[in-house]
Amino acid sequence: DSLPTPPDVALGQFGFHTSDEQGAARRGWFNTPHGVVETPAFMPVGTNATVKGLSVHELEETGAQMVLSNAYHLYLRPGDKAVRALGGLHAFARWKGPMLTDSGGFQVFSLAQMRKVREEGIEFQSHLDGSKHNYTPEAVMRIERNIGADVIMQLDELIEGKSEFGPSREAMERSLRWLERCRIEFDRLERDGREALAPIDLPPGAPALHDDLETERVAPPQALFPIVQGGIHPELRRASVRGILQTGDWHGVAIGGLSVGEAKPDMYATIAVCDPELPRDKPRYLMGVGFPDDLVESVRRGVDLFDCVVPTRMGRHGTAFTPDGTVQIRRAEHRFDKRPLVEGCDCHTCTHYDRAYLRHLFAAEEMLGLRLLSLHNVHYLVGLMRQARVELAAGRYESWATAYLERYRARAG
Ligand code: GUN
Ligand code: ZN
Repeated sequence: DSLPTPPDVALGQFGFHTSDEQGAARRGWFNTPHGVVETPAFMPVGTNATVKGLSVHELEETGAQMVLSNAYHLYLRPGDKAVRALGGLHAFARWKGPMLTDSGGFQVFSLAQMRKVREEGIEFQSHLDGSKHNYTPEAVMRIERNIGADVIMQLDELIEGKSEFGPSREAMERSLRWLERCRIEFDRLERDGREALAPIDLPPGAPALHDDLETERVAPPQALFPIVQGGIHPELRRASVRGILQTGDWHGVAIGGLSVGEAKPDMYATIAVCDPELPRDKPRYLMGVGFPDDLVESVRRGVDLFDCVVPTRMGRHGTAFTPDGTVQIRRAEHRFDKRPLVEGCDCHTCTHYDRAYLRHLFAAEEMLGLRLLSLHNVHYLVGLMRQARVELAAGRYESWATAYLERYRARAG
């Protein structure tokens, strides 16, 4: 199967066009200053401006279109100003396509030590060296502008998935107030352009690079995405979406606070609650969700974009995605297994290596093993969403999804 060519639509720097709707599911094209993303799409995560273990060339070969990075990590190391001085995230990481940075709302909650959440922002200590930092919505907008991804995320407050109504409401309402502060600072930075970029303070010995960049570089346009919060409480999710839509006109909306400890049926139900509330002509991005069955179920409920560290993290731990669930490559049963991870998979790993060899690499703790499984897993999720687009274009998403999920779940991995 091949995809029909995209409809000839004139999209601005940021724009979204959909077709082939089936229920809530749809195919789309999300335009950014660095190119078009065909949706539904999976975005691999490059936390430290690198998708762990993969070169940019390998990443391109997976078919990935848009890549994620983390403002929290890049702010701490090498520093957002250093990234800017080195030409911005695209030039720094050598990824030419669209990029997105998460604000750090999530990372501060999972990584930082001694964090204190106040209305002003989040005070935390770096997980790297214990240094103290003050993360405010305004600071995060400046950091994400310095880093220079195409899409940047608001600072939000995250809580556990199973949280009660009260704390879920507090965090959701605070996230809305922080969104408004993000928007004001974002607009100011867009308006003032280059002038508003903070002067660069490079350490002694750094190349005079920044002088050229300072005069040459015009800050490229960015899109700020709001994040829907509200835990697993339908009325809070609805209030969150309404609050977001009242604050401004967005190029896309993210759904956050999921896959953080709640049950899977609760996650699916929450996505379904958001669907009719969200504008249909804007992309929906489900944050941090990345298991194959979750992707297929969420596309059904109107989601267009996904990201997750799961393919690379699981790859490093010796777990591979297959249409029949996950495979643990370290297991003895693969010792003489001459089959690829997935029959018919056209990734570099599956076209060159068998399971017996991959198992050996893990047993011998060879770094190639981690890389080859990460590569296959990223390729698998990117390819799964490509398949979803093919099925949508052919008008058979529902039946394909049902069959896919039945096979995937038949033998729990
Ligand atoms: N990554 C996964 N979930 C979330 C979320 O709710 N907020 C942010 N900022 N990042 C996330
Ligand atoms: Zn493969």
